[in-house]
Amino acid sequence: MCGIIGYTGTDESVVDVLMTGLSGLEYRGYDSAGLAVSNSSLAIHKREGEVTALEAAIADERLEGTSGIGHTRWSTHGPPSDENAHPHTDCVDSIAVVHNGIIENYRTLRSELEADGHEFDSETDTEVIPHLIKAARAEGAGCEEAFRQAIRRLEGSYAVAAVFSGGETVYAARHESPLILGIGDEGYYLASDAPAFIEYTDRVVYLEDGQFARVDPTGYVVTDPRGAVVDTAVETIEWDPEDAGKSGYDHYMLKEIHEQPNAIRKCLRERVTEMDATVSVSELDELDHDGPVQFVACGTSYHASLYGARLLREQGIRAQCFLASEYDTEMQPVGGDTLVIGVTQSGETADTMNALRAANRAGATTLALTNGVGSSAARECDYVMYIRAGPEIGVAATKTFASQQVSLALLTGVLSGQYSSQEIRRLRDLPDQLQRVLDESNARTVAEAYADAEAYFFIGRGYDAPVALEGALKMKEITYKHAEGFAAGELKHGPLALVTENTPVFATITGDANASKTLGNVKEVEARNAPVVAVTDSSSDVAQYADHVLEVPAAGPRFTPILANVQLQLVSYWVANGLGRSIDKPRNLAKSVTVE
Ligand code: F6R
Repeated sequence: MCGIIGYTGTDESVVDVLMTGLSGLEYRGYDSAGLAVSNSSLAIHKREGEVTALEAAIADERLEGTSGIGHTRWSTHGPPSDENAHPHTDCVDSIAVVHNGIIENYRTLRSELEADGHEFDSETDTEVIPHLIKAARAEGAGCEEAFRQAIRRLEGSYAVAAVFSGGETVYAARHESPLILGIGDEGYYLASDAPAFIEYTDRVVYLEDGQFARVDPTGYVVTDPRGAVVDTAVETIEWDPEDAGKSGYDHYMLKEIHEQPNAIRKCLRERVTEMDATVSVSELDELDHDGPVQFVACGTSYHASLYGARLLREQGIRAQCFLASEYDTEMQPVGGDTLVIGVTQSGETADTMNALRAANRAGATTLALTNGVGSSAARECDYVMYIRAGPEIGVAATKTFASQQVSLALLTGVLSGQYSSQEIRRLRDLPDQLQRVLDESNARTVAEAYADAEAYFFIGRGYDAPVALEGALKMKEITYKHAEGFAAGELKHGPLALVTENTPVFATITGDANASKTLGNVKEVEARNAPVVAVTDSSSDVAQYADHVLEVPAAGPRFTPILANVQLQLVSYWVANGLGRSIDKPRNLAKSVTVE
């Protein structure tokens, strides 16, 4: 995880640029933040905690220079602390390094360096990098060559940026962690992701694995591992900086929940034609597939995959779902006729990337379904379909889940070629129906009624089952309260023992053919005095057994669950808000999980 930023240029305040960058990257980790500014010496400041803690620490400092680097941390090696915060140095503060990723051979490197007399200040894997650079410098290498030599010793994943005392150049390298180069009018930026510098420029170069970059106020050079200069394409990011603000909402999450109608509109644009009931996704024009499908994904994206696999199976396409971290192409053979779809909003999740890479090696065709334009998944897969949700800053995925579901519905149309004009109309109506859910939702009242609950249970069947899992995940993530989601039929096989009058059960019943069975489960929990909240389109008489009803319009069995999920997002949000939780940045979590 973690976010890195580097800057060099003529902007008067390097510190402002770096701090803006760190705020834009804070979604990637917020255990600590730090920066180094290069002048005649290196000024290094770092603090445990959020970026605001660093901001307070440097408020009275005069930090001047033309280049610098910064870091937001999500701890992997060593707990959050000032010592473990980046940048890391060579002890005499002549080299400063920030890193995102994991150096797998750091123990060996550290022992070797310690044997040579190097002293370490932190428990991190990263700290070996400045020491390796220092060792190479001591052998006579220039700054750039020393940086390259150090990087060549690393095994694992990394996006690294380094500055030297008295220098204006920032050196960077990447391998299996994201890194992009921004080209501005007043300087050059290196960062894990575009929100770090989108305020300054929308022109970017996406660095490839194994590439190095060197930026100074006069320009940039990208080289391959052997040092040969690489011709790079400069791309323009379509991103309105306004999108990244909170627009008057208290939290990004609430804003992003309310952005869902528009996100879905964007996702559908130019992809569906009602007249002749066609779905076409231009990115997939060349995809001609009629073999089996395997999904690999994690967390919320896995829940979207469960939904997508069911859509495909209903159209007669063989489809299986795998948690990316459990995917194994030997246990689950894939061949040239298998399409492996990585569902990943960030496009950077290490577990999903590893599964996709394994599928690639095994000869499968791979497809990334992602929000991350130019992300690792987008670049490494044979095909990419963008979900077009726009920036999502809140760590808990909301609008990207809805956009994944809608994208999967479109993909089903592409692969099966069997959508009816009624289904297309339902898809097109979805944004307006979702707006109605948002405008009329009583989720806040429900949340207030059950704010003190001991635990929350979520059940649903068929297309409603992934909604139950996702409802529980959202509740856990942002309220820190115990929540579990089950396929409704499973409740009686064990979890029912946990059900009491203090454990509300959220039952999603949205027109699935098996609604009557879920209704049976509702009666079972009611008999144990558990409060019942029905999330329903009134296709069953569940409302009459429920203590509260969260209503959604009917959008057909496939799409109504997308609306139901939004009600559950809102309930979680309002419970968390009532508890005063850190909703946009829940403890221990990060937006983009780039470690296994
Ligand atoms: C939950 C959440 C996570 C992610 C998971 C995969 O709100 O956001 O469970 O869904 O870490 O991330 P991506 O989709 O970026 O691969």
